[in-house]
Amino acid sequence: MFSNPFAELSASIPSVVMQIYVIVMFVLVVGGTIIDVLHKKSAEYFFEAARQSDKAAVRPLSGAQKGSIAVQTVAVDVLTSAEFCTTKRRVAHLLTMYGFIFFLLGTVAMVFFYPSAAAPTPTVWPLLWHLGALMVCVGGVWFWFFIRVDVAAEGYPWYRIVQADLFILSLLATNAFGLLWSLLQAAGAQVLSSFFLVLFILAGAVLFGGVLWSKFAHMFFKPAAAYQKRIAKANGALDNLPEPADRTDPATRDRHSMDLLKDAPLDMGLGIKREQPQHY
Ligand code: HEM
Repeated sequence: MFSNPFAELSASIPSVVMQIYVIVMFVLVVGGTIIDVLHKKSAEYFFEAARQSDKAAVRPLSGAQKGSIAVQTVAVDVLTSAEFCTTKRRVAHLLTMYGFIFFLLGTVAMVFFYPSAAAPTPTVWPLLWHLGALMVCVGGVWFWFFIRVDVAAEGYPWYRIVQADLFILSLLATNAFGLLWSLLQAAGAQVLSSFFLVLFILAGAVLFGGVLWSKFAHMFFKPAAAYQKRIAKANGALDNLPEPADRTDPATRDRHSMDLLKDAPLDMGLGIKREQPQHY
Protein backbone atom coordinates (compact mmCIF):
# COMPACT_ATOMS: atom_id res chain seq x y z
CA MET A 1 0.00 0.00 0.00
CA PHE A 2 2.79 2.43 0.87
CA SER A 3 4.40 2.68 -2.53
CA ASN A 4 5.54 5.93 -4.13
CA PRO A 5 2.50 7.16 -6.14
CA PHE A 6 4.60 9.66 -8.11
CA ALA A 7 6.96 6.93 -9.35
CA GLU A 8 3.97 4.95 -10.59
CA LEU A 9 2.55 8.09 -12.25
CA SER A 10 5.87 8.67 -14.04
CA ALA A 11 4.80 5.93 -16.49
CA SER A 12 2.24 8.39 -17.93
CA ILE A 13 3.49 11.84 -16.85
CA PRO A 14 7.25 12.58 -17.10
CA SER A 15 8.89 13.20 -13.70
CA VAL A 16 10.26 16.49 -14.91
CA VAL A 17 6.69 17.80 -15.39
CA MET A 18 5.89 16.91 -11.77
CA GLN A 19 9.11 18.59 -10.63
CA ILE A 20 8.24 21.76 -12.55
CA TYR A 21 4.76 21.77 -10.96
CA VAL A 22 6.25 21.56 -7.44
CA ILE A 23 8.77 24.33 -8.21
CA VAL A 24 5.98 26.57 -9.60
CA MET A 25 3.95 25.97 -6.41
CA PHE A 26 6.98 26.92 -4.30
CA VAL A 27 7.50 30.12 -6.31
CA LEU A 28 3.79 30.97 -5.95
CA VAL A 29 4.01 30.65 -2.15
CA VAL A 30 7.17 32.81 -1.93
CA GLY A 31 5.76 35.39 -4.38
CA GLY A 32 2.32 35.45 -2.72
CA THR A 33 3.86 35.91 0.73
CA ILE A 34 6.16 38.74 -0.43
CA ILE A 35 3.28 40.57 -2.17
CA ASP A 36 1.11 40.01 0.93
CA VAL A 37 3.81 41.50 3.19
CA LEU A 38 4.22 44.54 0.92
CA HIS A 39 0.48 45.02 0.39
CA LYS A 40 -0.54 44.78 4.05
CA LYS A 41 2.68 46.50 5.19
CA SER A 42 2.89 43.75 7.83
CA ALA A 43 6.72 43.80 8.03
CA GLU A 44 6.65 47.58 8.48
CA TYR A 45 3.99 47.21 11.20
CA PHE A 46 5.95 44.43 12.89
CA PHE A 47 9.21 46.39 13.09
CA GLU A 48 7.39 49.56 14.20
CA ALA A 49 5.60 47.58 16.97
CA ALA A 50 8.96 46.10 18.03
CA ARG A 51 10.50 49.61 18.17
CA GLN A 52 7.58 50.95 20.23
CA SER A 53 7.84 47.98 22.57
CA ASP A 54 11.60 48.58 23.03
CA LYS A 55 10.91 52.28 23.73
CA ALA A 56 8.21 51.50 26.31
CA ALA A 57 10.28 48.74 27.96
CA VAL A 58 10.30 48.82 31.76
CA ARG A 59 13.00 46.11 31.82
CA PRO A 60 15.14 46.43 28.65
CA LEU A 61 16.21 42.99 27.35
CA SER A 62 19.72 41.97 26.36
CA GLY A 63 20.48 40.18 23.09
CA ALA A 64 20.88 36.89 24.98
CA GLN A 65 17.45 37.32 26.64
CA LYS A 66 15.85 38.04 23.26
CA GLY A 67 17.60 34.96 21.85
CA SER A 68 16.24 32.82 24.64
CA ILE A 69 12.72 34.21 24.02
CA ALA A 70 13.11 33.33 20.32
CA VAL A 71 14.05 29.75 21.28
CA GLN A 72 11.04 29.53 23.64
CA THR A 73 8.75 30.85 20.87
CA VAL A 74 9.89 28.13 18.49
CA ALA A 75 9.92 25.34 21.10
CA VAL A 76 6.55 26.20 22.66
CA ASP A 77 4.37 28.41 20.42
CA VAL A 78 5.45 27.01 17.05
CA LEU A 79 6.27 23.34 17.70
CA THR A 80 3.46 22.64 20.17
CA SER A 81 0.78 25.14 18.98
CA ALA A 82 0.70 26.52 22.52
CA GLU A 83 -1.27 29.66 21.66
CA PHE A 84 -4.53 27.77 21.33
CA CYS A 85 -6.72 28.15 24.39
CA THR A 86 -8.58 24.83 24.20
CA THR A 87 -7.10 21.35 23.94
CA LYS A 88 -9.22 20.26 20.99
CA ARG A 89 -8.28 23.34 18.92
CA ARG A 90 -4.66 22.68 19.79
CA VAL A 91 -4.78 18.98 18.90
CA ALA A 92 -6.61 19.70 15.62
CA HIS A 93 -3.96 22.32 14.76
CA LEU A 94 -1.10 19.94 15.60
CA LEU A 95 -2.68 17.33 13.30
CA THR A 96 -3.04 19.73 10.35
CA MET A 97 0.34 21.40 10.92
CA TYR A 98 2.48 18.26 11.29
CA GLY A 99 0.36 16.41 8.73
CA PHE A 100 1.02 19.12 6.15
CA ILE A 101 4.74 19.20 6.96
CA PHE A 102 4.96 15.38 6.53
CA PHE A 103 2.98 15.62 3.27
CA LEU A 104 5.32 18.34 1.92
CA LEU A 105 8.50 16.49 2.95
CA GLY A 106 7.18 13.27 1.41
CA THR A 107 6.23 15.06 -1.82
CA VAL A 108 9.63 16.72 -2.24
CA ALA A 109 11.54 13.50 -1.44
CA MET A 110 9.48 11.32 -3.81
CA VAL A 111 9.15 13.81 -6.70
CA PHE A 112 12.79 14.96 -6.72
CA PHE A 113 14.84 12.09 -5.29
CA TYR A 114 12.88 8.93 -6.17
CA PRO A 115 10.92 9.94 -9.27
CA SER A 116 11.02 6.65 -11.15
CA ALA A 117 9.66 3.17 -10.48
CA ALA A 118 13.03 1.77 -11.64
CA ALA A 119 14.81 2.89 -8.42
CA PRO A 120 13.06 1.72 -5.23
CA THR A 121 11.80 4.42 -2.81
CA PRO A 122 12.62 3.92 0.90
CA THR A 123 9.28 3.07 2.59
CA VAL A 124 9.61 5.99 4.99
CA TRP A 125 8.69 8.58 2.30
CA PRO A 126 5.41 7.14 1.02
CA LEU A 127 4.55 6.28 4.64
CA LEU A 128 5.16 9.87 5.75
CA TRP A 129 3.21 11.25 2.75
CA HIS A 130 0.12 9.07 3.29
CA LEU A 131 0.20 9.53 7.08
CA GLY A 132 0.58 13.30 6.68
CA ALA A 133 -2.34 13.56 4.23
CA LEU A 134 -4.49 11.47 6.58
CA MET A 135 -3.57 13.67 9.58
CA VAL A 136 -4.54 16.81 7.63
CA CYS A 137 -7.86 15.16 6.69
CA VAL A 138 -8.64 14.17 10.30
CA GLY A 139 -7.60 17.53 11.81
CA GLY A 140 -9.19 19.51 8.96
CA VAL A 141 -12.55 17.72 9.02
CA TRP A 142 -12.69 18.00 12.81
CA PHE A 143 -11.90 21.72 12.52
CA TRP A 144 -14.39 22.32 9.67
CA PHE A 145 -17.41 20.63 11.24
CA PHE A 146 -16.91 21.17 14.98
CA ILE A 147 -14.22 23.67 15.94
CA ARG A 148 -14.44 26.55 13.45
CA VAL A 149 -15.59 29.72 15.27
CA ASP A 150 -18.38 30.33 12.69
CA VAL A 151 -19.90 26.96 13.55
CA ALA A 152 -18.89 26.35 17.17
CA ALA A 153 -19.54 29.82 18.55
CA GLU A 154 -21.54 31.84 16.04
CA GLY A 155 -24.19 29.31 15.12
CA TYR A 156 -23.65 29.32 11.32
CA PRO A 157 -24.27 26.02 9.50
CA TRP A 158 -21.16 24.03 8.48
CA TYR A 159 -21.89 24.50 4.76
CA ARG A 160 -21.70 28.32 4.86
CA ILE A 161 -18.49 29.24 3.03
CA VAL A 162 -16.72 32.62 3.12
CA GLN A 163 -13.40 33.78 1.67
CA ALA A 164 -11.63 33.18 4.99
CA ASP A 165 -12.29 29.45 4.42
CA LEU A 166 -10.12 29.36 1.29
CA PHE A 167 -7.08 28.08 3.21
CA ILE A 168 -8.70 25.30 5.22
CA LEU A 169 -10.82 24.10 2.28
CA SER A 170 -7.99 24.06 -0.27
CA LEU A 171 -5.66 22.42 2.29
CA LEU A 172 -8.22 19.75 3.02
CA ALA A 173 -9.04 19.24 -0.67
CA THR A 174 -5.36 18.94 -1.71
CA ASN A 175 -4.64 16.28 0.91
CA ALA A 176 -7.92 14.37 0.51
CA PHE A 177 -7.73 14.28 -3.32
CA GLY A 178 -4.03 13.33 -3.16
CA LEU A 179 -4.82 10.46 -0.84
CA LEU A 180 -7.76 9.24 -2.95
CA TRP A 181 -5.69 9.46 -6.13
CA SER A 182 -2.88 7.40 -4.62
CA LEU A 183 -5.15 4.72 -3.11
CA LEU A 184 -7.21 4.33 -6.32
CA GLN A 185 -4.07 4.22 -8.46
CA ALA A 186 -2.62 1.49 -6.21
CA ALA A 187 -5.93 -0.39 -6.52
CA GLY A 188 -5.72 -0.19 -10.34
CA ALA A 189 -8.87 1.96 -10.75
CA GLN A 190 -7.47 3.95 -13.68
CA VAL A 191 -10.39 6.24 -14.56
CA LEU A 192 -11.30 7.20 -10.99
CA SER A 193 -7.66 7.71 -10.00
CA SER A 194 -7.13 10.02 -13.02
CA PHE A 195 -10.23 11.97 -11.99
CA PHE A 196 -8.85 12.52 -8.47
CA LEU A 197 -5.40 13.31 -9.88
CA VAL A 198 -6.93 16.24 -11.83
CA LEU A 199 -8.73 17.43 -8.67
CA PHE A 200 -5.46 17.03 -6.67
CA ILE A 201 -3.58 19.21 -9.18
CA LEU A 202 -6.32 21.88 -9.21
CA ALA A 203 -6.71 21.95 -5.41
CA GLY A 204 -2.91 22.27 -5.02
CA ALA A 205 -2.88 25.20 -7.45
CA VAL A 206 -5.61 26.94 -5.41
CA LEU A 207 -3.83 26.23 -2.09
CA PHE A 208 -0.37 27.41 -3.16
CA GLY A 209 -1.52 30.01 -5.68
CA GLY A 210 -4.09 31.54 -3.32
CA VAL A 211 -1.66 32.74 -0.63
CA LEU A 212 -2.55 36.40 -1.25
CA TRP A 213 -6.24 35.78 -0.56
CA SER A 214 -6.06 33.04 2.05
CA LYS A 215 -4.70 32.43 5.57
CA PHE A 216 -1.82 30.34 4.20
CA ALA A 217 0.87 32.86 5.19
CA HIS A 218 -0.20 32.77 8.86
CA MET A 219 2.34 29.95 9.22
CA PHE A 220 5.08 32.54 8.60
CA PHE A 221 3.49 35.51 10.41
CA LYS A 222 2.15 33.86 13.58
CA PRO A 223 5.60 32.90 14.91
CA ALA A 224 6.72 36.56 14.58
CA ALA A 225 3.58 37.73 16.41
CA ALA A 226 4.06 35.12 19.15
CA TYR A 227 7.70 36.25 19.60
CA GLN A 228 6.63 39.90 19.87
CA LYS A 229 3.94 39.00 22.42
CA ARG A 230 6.53 37.26 24.62
CA ILE A 231 8.96 40.21 24.29
CA ALA A 232 6.25 42.72 25.34
CA LYS A 233 5.53 40.63 28.44
CA ALA A 234 9.19 40.12 29.35
CA ASN A 235 10.23 43.77 28.90
CA GLY A 236 7.16 45.05 30.76
CA ALA A 237 5.88 47.18 27.84
CA LEU A 238 2.75 44.97 27.72
CA ASP A 239 1.63 46.45 24.39
CA ASN A 240 0.38 49.51 26.30
CA LEU A 241 -2.04 47.42 28.36
CA PRO A 242 -2.24 47.77 32.17
CA GLU A 243 -0.61 45.14 34.42
CA PRO A 244 -3.15 42.43 35.32
CA ALA A 245 -4.77 43.54 38.60
CA ASP A 246 -3.45 41.69 41.64
CA ARG A 247 -6.39 41.43 44.04
CA THR A 248 -4.21 39.94 46.78
CA ASP A 249 -2.75 43.42 47.16
CA PRO A 250 -5.27 45.33 49.41
CA ALA A 251 -4.52 48.66 47.72
CA THR A 252 -5.30 47.26 44.26
CA ARG A 253 -8.35 45.40 45.56
CA ASP A 254 -9.78 48.57 47.10
CA ARG A 255 -9.07 50.62 44.02
CA HIS A 256 -10.66 48.12 41.59
CA SER A 257 -13.59 46.65 43.51
CA MET A 258 -17.05 47.92 44.26
CA ASP A 259 -17.96 47.65 47.97
CA LEU A 260 -20.01 44.59 47.18
CA LEU A 261 -16.99 42.76 45.74
CA LYS A 262 -14.39 43.65 48.37
CA ASP A 263 -14.75 40.30 50.11
CA ALA A 264 -15.38 38.24 46.98
CA PRO A 265 -13.02 35.31 46.30
CA LEU A 266 -9.72 36.55 44.98
CA ASP A 267 -9.85 34.48 41.82
CA MET A 268 -13.26 34.06 40.24
CA GLY A 269 -11.93 32.88 36.88
CA LEU A 270 -12.82 34.37 33.53
CA GLY A 271 -16.59 34.87 33.22
CA ILE A 272 -16.31 34.51 29.45
CA LYS A 273 -15.04 30.94 29.87
CA ARG A 274 -17.78 29.76 32.22
CA GLU A 275 -20.09 28.53 29.46
CA GLN A 276 -19.69 27.75 25.77
CA PRO A 277 -21.80 30.05 23.58
CA GLN A 278 -25.01 28.24 22.63
CA HIS A 279 -27.93 30.66 22.89
CA TYR A 280 -28.96 31.50 19.35
C1 HEM B 1 2.29 23.66 8.22
C2 HEM B 1 1.98 24.69 8.91
C3 HEM B 1 0.59 25.06 9.39
C4 HEM B 1 -0.65 24.62 8.98
C5 HEM B 1 -1.00 23.61 7.91
C6 HEM B 1 -1.63 25.32 9.79
C7 HEM B 1 -3.00 25.16 9.70
C8 HEM B 1 -3.92 25.97 10.32
C9 HEM B 1 -5.34 25.93 10.08
C10 HEM B 1 -6.05 24.98 9.14
C11 HEM B 1 -5.90 26.90 10.86
C12 HEM B 1 -7.36 27.29 10.90
C13 HEM B 1 -7.49 28.42 9.92
C14 HEM B 1 -8.87 28.98 9.78
O1 HEM B 1 -9.34 29.66 10.71
O2 HEM B 1 -9.46 28.79 8.70
C15 HEM B 1 -4.84 27.54 11.61
C16 HEM B 1 -5.01 28.57 12.51
C17 HEM B 1 -4.03 29.04 13.33
N1 HEM B 1 -2.68 28.73 13.26
FE1 HEM B 1 -1.84 27.45 11.98
N2 HEM B 1 -0.96 26.16 10.66
C18 HEM B 1 0.38 26.02 10.44
C19 HEM B 1 1.40 26.68 11.11
C20 HEM B 1 1.21 27.52 12.19
C21 HEM B 1 2.26 28.08 12.99
C22 HEM B 1 3.76 27.86 12.75
C23 HEM B 1 1.66 28.84 13.97
C24 HEM B 1 2.23 29.66 15.09
C25 HEM B 1 3.22 29.74 15.71
C26 HEM B 1 0.23 28.75 13.77
C27 HEM B 1 -0.70 29.36 14.56
C28 HEM B 1 -2.04 29.39 14.29
C29 HEM B 1 -3.00 30.15 15.05
C30 HEM B 1 -2.70 31.01 16.29
C31 HEM B 1 -4.25 29.95 14.44
C32 HEM B 1 -5.58 30.53 14.85
C33 HEM B 1 -5.78 31.65 13.89
C34 HEM B 1 -7.01 32.43 14.13
O3 HEM B 1 -7.97 31.90 14.68
O4 HEM B 1 -6.95 33.58 13.70
N3 HEM B 1 0.00 27.93 12.68
N4 HEM B 1 -3.64 26.95 11.26
